[in-house]
Amino acid sequence: MKRQAAARALEEVRDGMRLGLGTGSTAKHFVELLGEKVRAGMKVIGVPTSEATRGDAMRCGIALTTLEDIDRLDLTVDGADEIDPLLNLIKGGGGALLREKIVATASDRMIVIADDSKWVDVLGRFPLPVEVVPFGLAATRRAIAEAFAKCGVSGQMVVRNGEDGHAFVTDGGHWIVDAHLGRIPDASRLASLLSAIPGVVEHGLFVGLASSAVLAGGQGIRVIERR
Ligand code: A5P
Repeated sequence: MKRQAAARALEEVRDGMRLGLGTGSTAKHFVELLGEKVRAGMKVIGVPTSEATRGDAMRCGIALTTLEDIDRLDLTVDGADEIDPLLNLIKGGGGALLREKIVATASDRMIVIADDSKWVDVLGRFPLPVEVVPFGLAATRRAIAEAFAKCGVSGQMVVRNGEDGHAFVTDGGHWIVDAHLGRIPDASRLASLLSAIPGVVEHGLFVGLASSAVLAGGQGIRVIERR
């Protein structure tokens, strides 16, 4: 299903486009399918949202650039951990939220690709990733808890561990706190409050960034446009 969603998004790609390349297993399908097009002669250039995606894209023969060398991207295609009916997202399950948000924000359009298990009425069942600076973490956690309280949400905060049992380190050299909130009724307000905390580098709430979602399920593919 993830590959089907990726294939549907690929139909939106035109020759000459500058593309943001997402991170995660669904985005990886997109990169592989895009690689097939490139090998068949399509000319595109991509900005990867993680070192993992950079490696995948290079293996697939996709030309890469950076946001230093180009101003804007035509389209970003990326996965998500949760998608709500306003096309607000939780992202960062793969730890790439910071670069993903920079790239999505620099794009004219963002298409989210997912299997339909990611579709939710209200965000928050998936733990919200918050990328933090290790320095002063206890103070940052207190500030995050205050932001949660102002939004009427609460839950356990867990520093994410990597496979080696130590704190997971993002491509930017930061840590991730996963917040188990259950429900986030006002994602927009929580996003603003979290962004204002000095020790928070970025958070996984993507509000107003996705232009459309391609959801693949047992009944086929649904494309939802943001109104
Ligand atoms: C990466 O940091 C995330 O934002 C991913 O986009 C998200 O975790 C979706 O991953 P899958 O496509 O593997 O479900």
